[in-house]
Formats: sequence, structure tokens, C-alpha cells
Amino acid sequence: MADYSSLPTDSVAVIGLGKIGLTLAAVFANNGFNVHGADINEDVVSSINQGISHIKNEPGLEKLVSEAHNSKTLSATKRTAEAVQQSNIIIVIVPVLIDDDNRIDYRFIDQAVLDIAKGLKKGSLIIFETTLAPGDTRNRFGTKIEEVSGLKMGEDFHLAYSPERVYSNRIIRDLQSYPKIVGGLDERSLTLAKQFYTKSLGCELIDVSTLETAEFSKVAECVYRDVNIALANELAMFADEKNVDINEVITVSNSQPYSHIHHPGIGVGGHCIPIYPYFFINKGLTSGLTPLARTINDQMADYSLAKMEEELGTFQDKNILILGLSYRENVKEPTKSTALMLIDKLKRAKANILVHDPQFTTSEIERYAVLPLQLSDSVIEEIDAIIIQAFHKEYENLDFAAFTNCKLVLDGRNKVKEEEIKKLNMTYIGIGNGRGDSNEGRNNAADSNG
Ligand SMILES: NC(=O)c1ccc[n+]([C@@H]2O[C@H](COP(=O)([O-])OP(=O)(O)OC[C@H]3O[C@@H](n4cnc5c(N)ncnc54)[C@H](O)[C@@H]3O)[C@@H](O)[C@H]2O)c1
Repeated sequence: MADYSSLPTDSVAVIGLGKIGLTLAAVFANNGFNVHGADINEDVVSSINQGISHIKNEPGLEKLVSEAHNSKTLSATKRTAEAVQQSNIIIVIVPVLIDDDNRIDYRFIDQAVLDIAKGLKKGSLIIFETTLAPGDTRNRFGTKIEEVSGLKMGEDFHLAYSPERVYSNRIIRDLQSYPKIVGGLDERSLTLAKQFYTKSLGCELIDVSTLETAEFSKVAECVYRDVNIALANELAMFADEKNVDINEVITVSNSQPYSHIHHPGIGVGGHCIPIYPYFFINKGLTSGLTPLARTINDQMADYSLAKMEEELGTFQDKNILILGLSYRENVKEPTKSTALMLIDKLKRAKANILVHDPQFTTSEIERYAVLPLQLSDSVIEEIDAIIIQAFHKEYENLDFAAFTNCKLVLDGRNKVKEEEIKKLNMTYIGIGNGRGDSNEGRNNAADSNG
């Protein structure tokens, strides 16, 4: 039986105190661990050291940070090597992104790994949680840490990978309810990582045979969702041609257990689904469904705008309101939001672009060189068309009648009732709601049913 006593598990360094890292740090700090957080952002460090969460819209997080601060189990520093030196377990949750050419951008994590290597003590366990391309934990980071620290992985330090699978807005709940997948460099690394998560999170654990399996599994989840959404989008566009409503189709198709068609939409955003497929594409999966799905999903904004343009004639000088800057409903997250793609395309078409998003301040919206709009502004009477990009809860009871000059609503998330919009003498366009070149087929079918 393995002896774990040589590795006291009471001191944890969490490297990267963003939305996920801070939540992990706060949960660990309230579950019996001393947490030394590290982040390069001075403001983040200083607010955590005052017991204040800089992440505001994550249920339960502010309370956990304040409680950990009061019990002196959570502190933060800009000096990563120091945090690592004081800890036996190091959690890495610094983002890996893609650049403008869709190449993997390791800038932040490479720096973090260098700093970790400088502070690493013999006997420590390093767990990477950031989504990574298969092989990176061992080949890119493990070897770099060996090179800089002079310590040998598997002998002097332990190495594991456990993907973070949580969803914004319910991270604390997901940390407890989703099974945690864990892969280790060797048996001992795996055992120690599992021991840590059992104590710190108390969730179900699924161990896999290699580091690479664990890394692969997270990217595969994202690719699955991207491909599935692309399929839904492809079917939606075909449904438009055939004057069939895709929402009705999906509902009935998914009524048996082998069909799980996702929802079509105006675009896929955020820092998971539009990014992680490139971790496979960049490592050799250059043809087939994975890259094709990326292309299909990224074309949905164009597809939707073309449908609008058919109705409006031109975008030039039209006042177009985008509802939702965030990539999805009820979160504050502009990364890869389809709103940014729409803004770019509408600017080139010389439209006047107004944006409303209750999650962002006026000045935050202004950074995108668009006009922020309040729903109480009288300017809403001058709006020519509305695009629903992210269906925040504030839009559930939106009074479209107040947009007295509006001729068209593009429902990019298929959330609004078509009849409600049509009653106001506005054109309704959903994604795959059967608005092909002609609506006749559907009208006739409806008539014959009636
Ligand atoms: N946000 C999500 O919904 C989500 C879901 C699942 C998985 N993930 C994974 O979690 C990772 C982190 O996501 P997040 O939402 O917390 O990101 P985030 O952007 O909110 O936070 C990242 C933090 O890392 C810090 N940082 C950057 N470089 C650093 C360095 N060299 N050393 C120390 N700190 C550094 C930044 O200052 C920032 O505070 C993602 O890249 C992804 O792999 C995120």
C-alpha cells in the first residue's frame, strides 16, 4: 500500500486566480487547506487579500472568499515562486488561448510554469487543470519544470492532470456534482491527486490511465459540443430551405434516447467551445468534422445577417440594436462572443450599432466602439432592427412594442415567440424557423392543418 504520509496535504498553491482559480482556492480554503494563491494581476491580489472577490456574478463565491479571509486560510501574492515554495500541492489554472491565426497561445501558462519551477520543493504534487492539448502536461510543462528546477518528475515531484469541467454561474455547484477526471504521470501521482480531491472537493472521481487521456477527454467534450451545434446549425439552414421549423424537429427527434441534437444559434462563443477544437486541429486533426464544425458555426453570424439584409434592403445608416454582448445568457463574458463578430460585420456594412447588456457598464460597452443603450432611453423608438444575441433573463419580458419603429427581430437564440413579434407588424427571423426563400409552403401547410 502506498504511503502518503510524506506528503502533508494542508498547503495548496493555486496559480491563476481568475473565475475558476479563485473559486477553487476559496473552496479549498474552506475545506481545511491553507491556500496560497498567485496571480500576475495586482488588483486581483489586493482584493483577495482584503477578503473581496473580484468575480461578482458567481453564486456563493463572495461569501466563501470572505469566510476564508476571516479564517486566514486564503492569501494571494504576485510572487508565484513564493506561493509554490510554501505549498505541497500546486494547482495550475492559468488560461491557454488561441491567437488571431487560431494557433495555441501559451504565453501566460509558460510564464506561470517557469515561476512554479523556480519555487518547487522536492516531494510536491503539481496538478494542471487548465484545458490543454494532449501531451502538454508531460512534454511541454513537465520537462520545462525538470529543466528549470533540476528536479525529476516521477522521482522528485509528482504530476497530474485533471480538467476543469464547470460552467460559469454555477461553478461551486458543479465542482461538487460533476465527476472529476484525474490522470497521473504514474500510480503515485494519481493516488496523491485523488487523495487531494477527495479531501478538498469531496466529489466523485474517475481515474484514467494516462495524463494524455485526461487532457484528451476535456477537449473531446468541447469538440463534441461544437460538432453537435454545427449539425444543429446545418439542419437549421436546411430546414429554412424546406420551410420546416427546426425547433419543433429537434424537440420531437430528441424524444427517443439516442438523439441529442443541440440547439442551432447565431454563433458559438466563450472561451471553451470556439477555442479548444483548435487544440486538436493544431496538433494534426486538420480535416474532417472538427475543423468543419468550426467553419459552420462561425458562418452563422453571416447567414443570419444575410437573412436580415434580405428584409431590410441595406444595413447602411440603419439603427441596429444587439441585445447581449456576452457570449451567452446571464454571464458577463465577452470572450469570442458572436456579438463581436456581428459588430465587426455591421460596422463594415455602415450600420449604426447600439448594444444593450445588463451585465456590462456603459463604459465597458463603449470599449467596443458602439453606442451603449438603456432600455429606458427614448432612442429605442429609432431602432430599425433588433438582434437577440444572448437571451439574458432581463429579456424574458421585454416589451418589443416599445420599439415603435422596429421592423425586424432576429432571434439568434430562438427564444422569443414568433407570434408575439408578428402581432406587432415586425418580421421575425429565427435560426431555422422555416423562413426560406418563400414562406408559402409552411403557410399552406398550416392552412391545410387548420
Ligand atoms: N471560465 C470557464 O467557464 C471555464 C470552464 C472550464 C474550464 N476552464 C479552464 O480554466 C482556465 C481559466 O479560466 P478562468 O475563467 O479562470 O480565466 P480568467 O481569465 O478568469 O483568469 C485567469 C487568471 O490567470 C491570471 N494569470 C495569467 N497569467 C498568469 C501567470 N503567468 N501567473 C499567474 N496568474 C496568471 C490572470 O491574471 C487571471 O486572473 C481556462 O483557460 C480553462 O482552461 C474555464
